[in-house]
Amino acid sequence: MTPSSLSPFHTDTIIEPFRIRSVEPIRFTTMEERERLLKEAGYNPFLLKAKDVLIDLLTDSGTGAMSSKQWAGMIESDESYAGSSSFYKLESAVQDITGFKHLIPTHQGRAAENIFFTTIAKEGDVIPSNTHFDTTRAHVEHAGAEARDLVIDEGKQPQSNHPFKGNMNLEKLDQTIQEVGPENIPVIMITVTNNSGGGQPVSMANIKGVSEIAKRHNIPFFIDACRFAENAWFIKIREDGFADKKPIDIAREMFNYADGCTMSAKKDGMANIGGFLALNSDELASECRNLEILTEGFPTYGGMAGYDMEAVARGLYEALDPDYLRYRIRSISYLGDKLTNAGIPIVKPTGGHAVYLDAKQILSHIPPTEYPAWSFNNALYLLGGVRGVEIGTVMFGKQPDGSEKPAAMELVRLAFPRRMYTQSHVDYLAEVIISAYEQRNKLSGYNIVDSPEVLRHFSARLQPIDE
Ligand code: F0G
Repeated sequence: MTPSSLSPFHTDTIIEPFRIRSVEPIRFTTMEERERLLKEAGYNPFLLKAKDVLIDLLTDSGTGAMSSKQWAGMIESDESYAGSSSFYKLESAVQDITGFKHLIPTHQGRAAENIFFTTIAKEGDVIPSNTHFDTTRAHVEHAGAEARDLVIDEGKQPQSNHPFKGNMNLEKLDQTIQEVGPENIPVIMITVTNNSGGGQPVSMANIKGVSEIAKRHNIPFFIDACRFAENAWFIKIREDGFADKKPIDIAREMFNYADGCTMSAKKDGMANIGGFLALNSDELASECRNLEILTEGFPTYGGMAGYDMEAVARGLYEALDPDYLRYRIRSISYLGDKLTNAGIPIVKPTGGHAVYLDAKQILSHIPPTEYPAWSFNNALYLLGGVRGVEIGTVMFGKQPDGSEKPAAMELVRLAFPRRMYTQSHVDYLAEVIISAYEQRNKLSGYNIVDSPEVLRHFSARLQPIDE
């Protein structure tokens, strides 16, 4: 057989596009140990020690593996207080990808949000978004403004297969502007992908539509860009006209419709820490820099060390690599397919960084005020040492006036750290979830016994109702 007589090899298996050169052991515990540990943590997985978790899917934020190129850049970094060359590398990467003129580096996404909303929002303002992430909402409300979610109806229906469930309802956006007046809307935001709505993407057409409405009313339009690369991939594979475009060019087009962005580099910056605000307006940038100096640091490092800026400057490009994105999005749908085949209700179609289990359906015997998603998430820890996060009534139910309102959805989010777990981890994970699902009738709801004023899910202590 001569080489030319071979048929090309074809496989549908999408392998991890990297090999592993440094490993970190994970620790196995018994179910008895986990029962004790969870009780000691006030039945709040945020209060568990990471060493007691086998597979940690609490978040994809800052938890990923960095590449050898990123580590090499970190060694080369410039730690000068002012004018660090690592800042200029990050600035050039951000300008190249987003096109925005000014870069304001911060220690993470919420610091960018703090600077931004403190500068532009005031009492009585309304800030529309598809869905504000919890820290974004908290900052908007902290500034005295209202955070208003205007995601399309399909975005609130876990079973809808709409390809862009993160889209904003443009009619509702128009109505909101009419109702409150453009002078009371300092910015329109859009979160890509829509984390709180299931990691669902926003289409280019929708981004363009929001941009046109914003321009018509002279309102700035900003993107919460945490997962911009994953969003670009979905546009490539799901939206007409983008199949042949490179993710980086799709990302450039997305940003081209906006006036600025807030970014957590802990997501698609592929770094363990970092973030930024990037924007075009000279005047707003200068106001934001004044606050940056007060709360973060000198403008050429903000909240980041030089080595953080190096890691992010390289990470932003790595996040846009097509081989990486293909593997990334496939590893999420791989778990989604296994669960769907086992009859477990999840948010469909699977999104960019996480699988979201629909606990309202799984635990239909537990009312939202007894926190079904919290209960199912705790069951995953007890059974298999897996830690996810509740996105439901514990996270969103507490109203500014102190009352409690059921959240729109009761989800357990299993977020995948980037480049961290392999296919056998995911196979195990599916087995744990299927076992919890089969035993769902044994699960009870929870009461909150102690809770802080804001962002209560991080530190509240709870108790199972049947205890
Ligand atoms: N916006 C979105 C859409 C986010 O998902 C996050 C963080 C932030 C802003 C804030 O960024 O953490 O760097 O301050 N999301 C993490 C998560 C915490 O688990 O989804 P940060």
